[in-house]
Amino acid sequence: MPVTRDEFRRALSRFASGVTVVTAKCEDDQLRGITVSAFSSLSLDPPLVLICIDRRASLHDHLEEGRHFAVNILAEGQEDISHRFASKVPDRFDGLACREGTAGSPLIEGALAAIECRIVHAYPGGDHTILVGEVISTNVSEGKPLLYCQGNYARLA
Ligand SMILES: Cc1cc2nc3c(=O)[nH]c(=O)nc-3n(C[C@H](O)[C@H](O)[C@H](O)COP(=O)(O)O)c2cc1C
Repeated sequence: MPVTRDEFRRALSRFASGVTVVTAKCEDDQLRGITVSAFSSLSLDPPLVLICIDRRASLHDHLEEGRHFAVNILAEGQEDISHRFASKVPDRFDGLACREGTAGSPLIEGALAAIECRIVHAYPGGDHTILVGEVISTNVSEGKPLLYCQGNYARLA
């Protein structure tokens, strides 16, 4: 018997992850971004990462092969930014300190790292799309990461 949606979600919630905000300057020049925990390193040579984006997310249809995005890895204390980019706030960038990355994607000030990518593959994955990004630049700061587990934010001890 297949697992129920609730059983599946409950099992997944036991997996602790970091929290990222994926941002992009889209083809209409609008800045868009959403909170994403489905992020993974994929390859060192060439340098590749992957993200999984819900097909219903507003950013989804703006992320095509050849376009760029940035993965902003949130730091401890940036829960408000995670909330903002997972909520229905009309302008998620309003009042948020950002700088422009080399390919135009907004890089969030205070994030622990920013990884800018060019999309090289997009694969269907059920109700999500798996996007593979070739890394074109990285920025790193010192600090501790924001964590997410069992529906709550957490900190490293
Ligand atoms: C901690 C956390 C992790 C999330 N991870 C993902 C993810 O990996 N992929 C995704 O598509 N949505 C993820 N979401 C949900 C989106 O951030 C949320 O649905 C967002 O509002 C979608 O953007 P939209 O409102 O512009 O459509 C996550 C939300 C939270 C709070």
